[in-house]
Parts: sequence; C-alpha cells; structure tokens
Amino acid sequence: MFISIERNRLESIQEQIFEQARRQILAGSLRPGVKVSSTRALAAQLKVSRNSVTFAYERLINEGYLVTKPTAGTFVAPLFPEDAVRATGVAEIYSPDRSARSGSPDEPPAFTGRRHSILSTSRNPIDFWTQRTDPAAFPLRSWRRVILESLASAGRNLTEYGDPCGYMFLRTTIAEHVLDNRGIQARPEQIIILAGAQLALNLALRVLVRGREPIAVENPCNQGAAYLFESLGMTVLPYPIDSFGVDAESLVKSDARLVYVTPSHQFPMGPTLSLHRRKLILEWAQRTGAYILEDDYDSEFRYDDAPLPALKALAPNRVIYLGTFSKSLGAGLRIGFAIFPESLVESAGTAKALLDNGHVWLEQAALARFISGGGFARHVRRIRQSWKSRRDTLLERLSLRFGRLELMGTEAGTHIAIKVPERWNAHDIKQIARKSNVGVYTVQCGGGHEYGAMTFNAEWLLLGYASLSERQIEIGVDRLAHAMELRQGNGPAFRGY
Ligand SMILES: Cc1ncc(COP(=O)(O)O)c(C=O)c1O
Repeated sequence: MFISIERNRLESIQEQIFEQARRQILAGSLRPGVKVSSTRALAAQLKVSRNSVTFAYERLINEGYLVTKPTAGTFVAPLFPEDAVRATGVAEIYSPDRSARSGSPDEPPAFTGRRHSILSTSRNPIDFWTQRTDPAAFPLRSWRRVILESLASAGRNLTEYGDPCGYMFLRTTIAEHVLDNRGIQARPEQIIILAGAQLALNLALRVLVRGREPIAVENPCNQGAAYLFESLGMTVLPYPIDSFGVDAESLVKSDARLVYVTPSHQFPMGPTLSLHRRKLILEWAQRTGAYILEDDYDSEFRYDDAPLPALKALAPNRVIYLGTFSKSLGAGLRIGFAIFPESLVESAGTAKALLDNGHVWLEQAALARFISGGGFARHVRRIRQSWKSRRDTLLERLSLRFGRLELMGTEAGTHIAIKVPERWNAHDIKQIARKSNVGVYTVQCGGGHEYGAMTFNAEWLLLGYASLSERQIEIGVDRLAHAMELRQGNGPAFRGY
C-alpha cells in the first residue's frame, strides 16, 4: 500500500489514508486477500500519529474494504461495497461471482464472507451503541428463580437429547405469547427455538434458497442479514427506505420471490412499515407465491401508539417470522425463534436437526417458566417504560443542544437515527465524539449495511439509548454538541453550552 500524506491539504490525515487506500483497493492495485501494514508500521512510515491510521483502518473495516483476522492481521476484503451494480434505477443488484473457482488444492475455502458488527468498537463510558441494553434492567432475581426451579425438575432433560426443534413447553408458551402480543396464530409445532434471530434467518434460508436466489431487501439493511445473503451468493435487490419503511410500491414489481424486512422498527434507520405498505407486500407475496422473512426484533417497544399487526398475523402462509429475546431480555442469553408456515414445517424441522441437535434445555425451560408465570410480560412493561423515559430524555437533550434535527425511528425500539447538520459528515462526528469519550455510530459502524451511494452512511448517525442512564444520555449529548462547537466555531447548527 502506497500512501502519501500532504499536511497542508484540507482533508484530515485519516481521510487521506482512507481515501487513498480505498482507491487502491478498488483499482485492484491492492488485491483481495493481501495483508496490509499494521497501524503501528504505517504510522511510523508516514510519520503520523497511530490514531490517524487506526481511525482510517477502522473506517476501511467498517465500510467493508478491509477485514481483520484475529492474531493474523488486517487484509484486503474479498468483496467490496462498490461491487453493487446499478440495475433498474430503483434497486441495485449485488451478486458475487463464484464461478471462477479453480478447484486447485490451494484455493481458499468455499466460504467467503465478512463479519458484521455486533460488538461496540468504543470503550467510552458513554457509548450510544445500538446493540445492547442496560444490564441493571435484566431481571436477575426472577431469572435465578426460574433457573433453579427448572433445575429442580430437570429429570432426564439434562442427560438426553430433546426435540431439536425445541422444548415443547417453551414452544407452547411462545405460541400463546405471540397470539396475545402480535396476533399470530401458530401451532407450537410451527415454532422452532434457536440461539437468536440471526440463526433463525440462517435456518430459513437453508430451507428456501437455491443458488443465486434473488432476495429483496431494505436499503440500508441489517448488516448481519446483508452479509449472510452475500456469503450465500444470493442476488440482493435493495429497495430504499423512507419514513414509512421500505419502498413497497417498487418492491412489488420485483422478480424476487423472497423478501427480508424489519417492519416494527426498520434496522438500522428505524421507521415502522406503514399499514398500506404492509398490505402491498402481503398482496404481492400472495399473488406471486413469494415468502416474506419478517424480522420482528424490537416489536415489544412501541412508545406512543399501539403496535401494527405482524405481517405473519395477516398472511400466515407466506411469512416466516423471526423472533428474538435479545432486546427484551438480553443479547447474551442467545435465544430466539422462528415460526414457519405449515407448508415448510417438515423441511424446517429436518434442517434444524441437521444444524445442531437442539437448543440448550435449561435456558428454554427457564424462559418457558418466566413467560408462562407472567414475569416476562411484567418485565417488558417495566423496561418499556424505562426505555421510553430514556428516549424522551435523548430527544429533549438533542433538541436543547441542536435545535431542530431530522430524526428517524423515534417511535419504537432502542435506538434512533439523526441526520447530521449541514456541512457535517457523520464519520467525522463519530471521530470527534470519540475524542470526547462518547460513542456514536454511522450506519455502517452501527450494524447497518448500505448498498450503493452510501448517503445514509455519510449523513446519519445511530444512537442507541437503552444501555445508558438518563444522566449519561444528557452528558453524552452535551459533550457531543460541545465537541462539534469547538471544531466548527460557534456555527449556527448548535445552541450554547
Ligand atoms: C435487525 C435485527 N434483527 C435481529 C436482531 C437480534 O438478533 P439475535 O436474536 O441473533 O441476537 C438484531 C440485533 O439486535 C437486529 O438488529
């Protein structure tokens, strides 16, 4: 990698490193798989601070140009965001070419993929990370009790295999829970318990996908889903989102027979899919025989009005519903579920058995007790109230410090998206905030993935609020505003400090 730094340029040193490396990667002079210099070595070579190189590398990693391999170093990624090809004007197609395999014994493994972000990259105490909730809100006492009760009545459950599709007590409990809360009617046999929605998505794709199957997705999209589709060699058709969710009017003209959506709180931008668009997508699926992968994460947290019905409730035979307890209980528990249409139950059950012989029994038994005893509903009511107060504090403080800001995703979930003030770039704000010990995230760094022009990535920031106290939220916003004021001088975008 050849980088030349000009100190009198307007761009910062880290921007120059980022841009030059990106260009060399796209031009092919830095080839996929090539190991790049360590941050220390490059900083020494360029006589710049190590931080500048580290920030540039982090951005290259977050935007998909570089990948890190633990203990081995940093390498040029096998696939880049710009591999997206402009298609119909509405959507763009992404489909990696896998036909070039030589079959030689030295060729790399058949699997190629990129890691999605689920871990925060910031060690700051005030970290608006999108993918965590407050550990103090975990119902520890109740959880201890249901674990102990389950252990006391475990019988043979700890010493022999159970049904790979899940513990029947939990499947029955979840069937009642989704009926009461999401209007979904499902037999327990349609429900498969797994270690989270990401695994549920993997299972559904295992059942449904052949070859380069086209899939319609939201743009920007959940990174874990986007990179999974990419790793399977699927053809991705991204459709833009706005404040009513994905552009369903265009999506229904798609040739895809599979769509992945996050209707309750679009990830990463946060809008709720409108009822009108829900109906359009459902009619399209009924008409064409398409399947909808409904990732209903965050559905428990709707603050200002009643939740809209799940797509699965409206068209049970066309929707594979993906549920998770990562937001309502904790991401570290690793438990979620999928609800399959009757027509797919048999194949999904077989695919699940081949996948893993079953999910941890103790955790399933404890969760079933917690839900059926009413503890889960009480817990969700409590944290919904608590997240709502934190959201209100965040919105008030942002308004106090920044005046009017364009926001998305405020009505539900555990994070919001804010449009950065004019003349600012989201990535720069992220770096400035980091120097003031505050973690805020671009779309690409915060667990989203944007296809094509990356405008959301440049113009929006994601702020998760469910892991911070209200006081921390206020301090975090104040510090952010202050740091931006210092950088800009007292520009019009900010109000005093
Ligand atoms: C869009 C989306 N779906 C699902 C999940 C939950 O995934 P899992 O259940 O695998 O933890 C997340 C993470 O919070 C998410 O952002």
